[in-house]
Amino acid sequence: MRQLLDEAAKGGYGVGAFNVNNMEQIQAIMEAARETKSPVIVQASRGARSYSQDRFLYHLMLAATELYPEIPTVLHLDHGNSVDTCKSAIAMGFTSVMMDGSLMPDGKTPSTFEYNVKTTREVVEMSHAKGTTVEGEIGCLGGIEDGHGAGLDGLSHLTDPEQAVEFVRQTGVDALDIAIGTSHGAYKFTKKPTGETLKMDRLIEIHKRLPRTHLVMHGSSSVPKDLQDIINQYGGKLKPTWGVPIEEIQLGIKNGVRKINVDTDNRLAITGAIRKVFAEKPEEFDPRSYLKPARDAMKKVVALRMTQFGQAGHAGDYAPTPLAEMAKRYEGNGIPVVSSE
Ligand code: G3H
Ligand code: 13P
Ligand code: ZN
Repeated sequence: MRQLLDEAAKGGYGVGAFNVNNMEQIQAIMEAARETKSPVIVQASRGARSYSQDRFLYHLMLAATELYPEIPTVLHLDHGNSVDTCKSAIAMGFTSVMMDGSLMPDGKTPSTFEYNVKTTREVVEMSHAKGTTVEGEIGCLGGIEDGHGAGLDGLSHLTDPEQAVEFVRQTGVDALDIAIGTSHGAYKFTKKPTGETLKMDRLIEIHKRLPRTHLVMHGSSSVPKDLQDIINQYGGKLKPTWGVPIEEIQLGIKNGVRKINVDTDNRLAITGAIRKVFAEKPEEFDPRSYLKPARDAMKKVVALRMTQFGQAGHAGDYAPTPLAEMAKRYEGNGIPVVSSE
């Protein structure tokens, strides 16, 4: 992933990181990548690894690289909660891991800065020795409106720019997830976010201080109204909600954001398509009758995001560097090599 993000920095574009749990989601991403000629980050959470029994996922990814050899493809661990989780992912063949030490291993309790540095540093050492990439997180993801994860002023969970600099210096992470008011899932904002609820100014400040670090935006689904409407039209019960506007993500990309995490938009697209078939063709019971439209709906969202993030057209820019070669570069401390400016 390090190579892919370095290339994105050179080209001034962002790369979507899309979550998967099954074959149809992997196929949707790879088809969108082929159509738009995009490099790809496929990511799996701990939940996805357990749902797919890990090895199913691994072999599906091998099939993806066999069938789409022209697409540089990363398999990334999303929100690793411990050194051991990252270790098992690397051992299985993930080419990149996130050590989310902003939270304790329960994935809920905010940790201390010292704990975060120690665990992330350990993963960096282990991972770079094998040539794999590490993403870390400083600050805690969470909305500002509802005080989620926050202190008295509702802002204390956001990333402190000075701490971000110190975190990168002490850990040597390749990519850094920062907290600027986004959160996971469909309910991010109760109205279109403003500078008060989505702190792009904070992101810009962090980028100024860390121009050589690839920034990551989690919780970056846009939760489009049309996808919400399809679900509700066919019997769903989503409450009105807002996601992260594409133009804010594009502003982020101009300011050092190279990886953009998207899961919810694809979940919405899949569920809407399945609900539509169930409502319109209640006589159908062949799973392919609804999984195919679901896969097509996800592909459409992914292809659109690939175009909006600017990765479209860049699949052929470079040949993937083998992990052993990356390990050598890390060893010689030849990395970081590319400025994200
Ligand atoms: O981190 C959040 C992603 O959307 C993955 O979600 O843990 O339910 O698989 P999950
Ligand atoms: P969304 O819920 O906004 O899609 O975010 C996904 C994410 O950040 C995965 O790590
Ligand atoms: Zn996330």
